[in-house]
Amino acid sequence: MKRLRRLRMTEPLRRLVREHHVLPQHLIQPLFVVEGDRQRQPIASMPGVERLSLDELEREVEELAKLGLGGVILFGLPNHKDDMASAAWDAEGIVQRAVGVVKRAAPQLVVVTDVCLCEYTSHGHCGVVREGRIANDPTVELLCRVAVSHARAGADIVAPSDMMDGRVAAIRQALDETGFVDLPILSYSSKFASAFYGPFREAAASAPAFGDRRSHQLDPANLREAIRESLLDEGEGADMLMVKPALPCLDILRELRTRTELPLAAYQVSGEYAMIKAAVHQGWLEERRVVEETLMAIRRAGADVILTYFAKDFARWTNERA
Ligand code: PBG
Repeated sequence: MKRLRRLRMTEPLRRLVREHHVLPQHLIQPLFVVEGDRQRQPIASMPGVERLSLDELEREVEELAKLGLGGVILFGLPNHKDDMASAAWDAEGIVQRAVGVVKRAAPQLVVVTDVCLCEYTSHGHCGVVREGRIANDPTVELLCRVAVSHARAGADIVAPSDMMDGRVAAIRQALDETGFVDLPILSYSSKFASAFYGPFREAAASAPAFGDRRSHQLDPANLREAIRESLLDEGEGADMLMVKPALPCLDILRELRTRTELPLAAYQVSGEYAMIKAAVHQGWLEERRVVEETLMAIRRAGADVILTYFAKDFARWTNERA
């Protein structure tokens, strides 16, 4: 008789035939950085996540490197916002200085920067607004400036998250022309217009003042279009692709895994984090087991790299066990 339970009977047997693994080195911790000193500002809808000033950032990344995490992705809260997002490509901007801090304090970590304008525009949109709409090509020009400024600051990977058309090709060209031919692009290639980004917009103060992001982010109804977006970005020169959010898009990840040979990332976003934290707070879910299960599901679906606010906790749990 076929008895599949035979290989499930003991932990050593289960370990022997385990198909997928999640390790700290696969994970990227998102970090929010603010101006000032000794700042650790809590975010109400993301318990356990804080906005850090650069001195606190230094301490934090030393710890993350010791835990063996793969890297960090940085989001900045500038003091100054305007309709051109000029703080986003300022050589002395908050993210640009943060990159320097991380590279000095924790050279083992891969430093990813998020290339977008929404945290830097006065209206909270991801681009230049003309006649109430986001103008694609003028926005792409600004994104190129942002990417090059992150490259100059020392970023290891730039990750455009804006979903404008043609931005990967334009950023590749801008990086090549400024001498950054070896700097990889991780494209947020299949990014959906998702309600799960809500808490992030509190954390990064980037909620749009009017309208929403549906003129550029993907319709959650569309799988084929999501695959098309990612394959287009591959054609434009992306080195890695990303699906976002993660758990609501495991089908997209799985499908994309069969359609490209590029490494894939998935972003377990702020709302996915908040949802688990809320249930844990109520005593309804067991945090560690639920987090480990979601991360495993995301790896199983096809992600090589996972961006998650649980990265540090996961690495701690893993190190405790070892
Ligand atoms: C754009 C950006 C967003 C997130 C990552 N990069 C916000 C958005 O598209 O509205 C969301 C991440 C999350 O929810 O954790 N700069």
